[in-house]
Amino acid sequence: MIKFILNNELIETDLPSGMVLADYIRYKECLTGTKLGCREGDCGACTVLVGTRVGSEVIYESVTSCLMPLGNAQSKHIVTVEGVNIIRLNKIQAAIADEGGTQCGFCTPGFIMSLCGFALSKEPKNQEKGILAIAGNICRCTGYKSIERALKQIVQELQELDTNNRINWLVENGFLPNYFVNIETKLKECVLQETDLGHDAQKIFVGGGTDLYVQRPTEMLPAEIVHTTQRQDLKGIWKANGRCHIGASTSTEALKQSPLIQSLSPNSDHFFNLISSLQIRNMATVAGNLVNASPIGDLAVFLLALNSNIILNDNGALREIPLKNFFKGYKTLDKKETEFVQEINFDLPTEKHYFNFEKVCKRTYLDIASVNTAINIECNLHGEITKASLAAGGVAPVPKYLTKTSAYLTGQTVSEALFKNSLDIAQEEISPISDVRGSEEYKRLLLRQLMKAHYQVLFPELVV
Ligand SMILES: Cc1cc2nc3c(=O)[nH]c(=O)nc-3n(C[C@H](O)[C@H](O)[C@H](O)COP(=O)(O)OP(=O)(O)OC[C@H]3O[C@@H](n4cnc5c(N)ncnc54)[C@H](O)[C@@H]3O)c2cc1C
Ligand code: FES
Ligand code: FES
Repeated sequence: MIKFILNNELIETDLPSGMVLADYIRYKECLTGTKLGCREGDCGACTVLVGTRVGSEVIYESVTSCLMPLGNAQSKHIVTVEGVNIIRLNKIQAAIADEGGTQCGFCTPGFIMSLCGFALSKEPKNQEKGILAIAGNICRCTGYKSIERALKQIVQELQELDTNNRINWLVENGFLPNYFVNIETKLKECVLQETDLGHDAQKIFVGGGTDLYVQRPTEMLPAEIVHTTQRQDLKGIWKANGRCHIGASTSTEALKQSPLIQSLSPNSDHFFNLISSLQIRNMATVAGNLVNASPIGDLAVFLLALNSNIILNDNGALREIPLKNFFKGYKTLDKKETEFVQEINFDLPTEKHYFNFEKVCKRTYLDIASVNTAINIECNLHGEITKASLAAGGVAPVPKYLTKTSAYLTGQTVSEALFKNSLDIAQEEISPISDVRGSEEYKRLLLRQLMKAHYQVLFPELVV
C-alpha cells in the first residue's frame, strides 16, 4: 500500500510502485493539467512539487513526474497544477497571464509548478535564482522573454515574503490555496514504511529513477522495486574523522546545498548548475549516478577527483573499496547484483586546497557531457603538491581516474612547466572513441583545454 497526499486528498493505493507518477496523476486521478511531453525529463511539462515533512515543516521540491516512480511518493505531499488553484488565478498564474507568458499553454503548468517551487524554496528571491528554478522547463512558443517578465513581477511580489512563516505568507498573499497550512499535520497520517534493502537478484534498486525510467521504461511497471530513497539512513552529508560521508540516496541538489561540499570550491554552485536541471537534481541520487556506470557521469568524475571510497552492502555485509576500482569496464562494476551502495566518503582537505570541475556539452545547460573533468590538489606552505587527483569522463569506457597524471603532479612544486607536461601525460592514459558527442580527436583536444582551464582557474598567475 502506498500512502500520500495528492493536492488536498489522502491517497491509499495498491497500484504497482513502479508506475510512473505522471500516469497515476493523469490516468487514475484524471488530473490532466500535468502534461506529458518527452517522458525523458527534458521538457519540464510534467513538473509537480513533492513536499517532505522535515521536523515541523514541509520542504517542497520540483520534480519531473514522468520519471518518478509512484513508490517514491510514499509519505509525501504531491502537488499538481490543480492543487495550486485558488478562486481567481494565483499570483504566479496571474503574472504569466499578464505578461503573455503563455501561448499554446502546453508548457504552462510545468512553469507554474517550477515557479511555485521557487516561491516555496529557501533560495533568495531574485531573477537569477528564479531563472535557475525554470531552467528545466522548455517552451516552444513564447521566446521566454514574456516568461522572464512574469518572473520579474513574481520576484518583486516575493520581496515581502516572511521567511519565518513562509507557507502562511504565501497563502495570505494569494500564491497558494488555504489547505497548504494543514498539510504538515496531515502528512503525519502517512507514516513512512521503512524499505528493507535485503535483496535478491530479481528486484531492482531504484533511486530517483531518472536513469532507469529513461533507459528501461517498459520494465519498470511490472518490476519488483526496492525504493532506496525511502531509507532515511541512506541520506545526508556529514563529517566524521576528517572525512566527508555521503549517504547513497542523497540527491544531487542536496549535495549542491551542502556547506561541506560548498567548502571544496567557491564555484561549487556553478558546477552543480551544469548538472541536469533543478527537477532532475532534486530526484537524482549519488548512487544512481555511480551505478548507471555512464563514462560521462558528472558525480562519478567529481567524486573520483576527491579520491573517494564507496561502501557496498550485501544483506548487512559491508565492503569498502576505492571508487576508482569500482568501475571495471564499459558498464561493468565491481558490484554483485545483491549489493547496494550505502555510502561514499572522501578525505576533507587539511592543507591549502584547490578543486575545480569543468564540463563541455553540445549545449551549456541540461545536457550530458562530451568531456568532463575534475581536479583536486592540496599544497603545503612551500607550494609543494602533497596530494593530486584528476579524473575525466568521455575519454575512456569508464569515468577515468587519471592515475599517471595524478602521480606525476604529486610531490612536485607548482609551476607552469609542471602543468604543461601534465597535459601530455594525461593524453597517454586516455582512449576516447568517436561517437555522437564528438570525434576521438575532438575529445582529446577537449581534455587538454579543460585541464588548462583547471590550471587557469586555480592558479591564475601561471600561463599554461
Ligand atoms: C534530463 C536528464 C538530464 C540529465 N543530466 C545529467 C547530467 O547533466 N549529468 C549526469 O551525470 N547525469 C545526468 N542525467 C542522468 C541521471 O540523472 C543521473 O545519472 C542520476 O544521478 C541517476 O540517479 P538516479 O537516482 O535517478 O538513478 P536511478 O535511475 O534510480 O538508478 C540508476 C542505476 O543505479 C542503480 N541504483 C540506484 N541506487 C542504488 C543503490 N543505492 N545501490 C545500488 N544500485 C543503485 C539502479 O538500479 C540503476 O541501475 C540526466 C538525466 C536526465 C533524465
Ligand atoms: S514529460 Fe518532459 S520532462 Fe516529463
Ligand atoms: S506556450 Fe506553447 S510551449 Fe510554451
